[in-house]
Amino acid sequence: NAPPYIRVTPSMLKRQTGRRGTDAWMVLGGRVYNVSPYEKFHPGGVPELLRGAGKDATQLFGEVHPWVNFEGMLSACLIGIYVAEEEAAA
Ligand code: HEM
Repeated sequence: NAPPYIRVTPSMLKRQTGRRGTDAWMVLGGRVYNVSPYEKFHPGGVPELLRGAGKDATQLFGEVHPWVNFEGMLSACLIGIYVAEEEAAA
C-alpha cells in the first residue's frame, strides 16, 4: 500500500523547516520524512528534533542516536525520496 511518494529537491526541502506553519521535513538515509506528526513524541523534545528540519539530517541523527530505528518508526511519515535539483523533472 504505497502512497504517491514524491521527489524532493534541496530547494523544496529547505523551505520545510517546521516554522511559520510549514511541516517539518527531514532527509534520513536518502528518504524524505514529514516529522511534524512525530514531534510531540520525540524523547529529545521539539527544538532538538527541529535541528534536523529542512535539511539532510542523516549525519546529525547518526551522531545523536545511531541505535534509533527511524525507518521503522517513521514509516508512516515517509513522503518521498531526495533527489538533485535537475533530477526532479526527469
Ligand atoms: C532521543 C536529538 C531526530 C527519535 C533524542 C535525544 C536527543 C535527540 C538530544 C536525547 C534525549 C534525552 O535522552 O534526554 C535529535 C536530533 C534529531 C533527532 C538533533 C534531528 C536530527 C529524531 C528522529 C527520531 C528520533 C527523526 C525518530 C525516528 C528519538 C528516540 C530517542 C531520541 C527514539 C530516545 C533514544 C533513547 O533514549 O535510546 N533525540 N533527535 N529522533 N530521539 Fe531524537
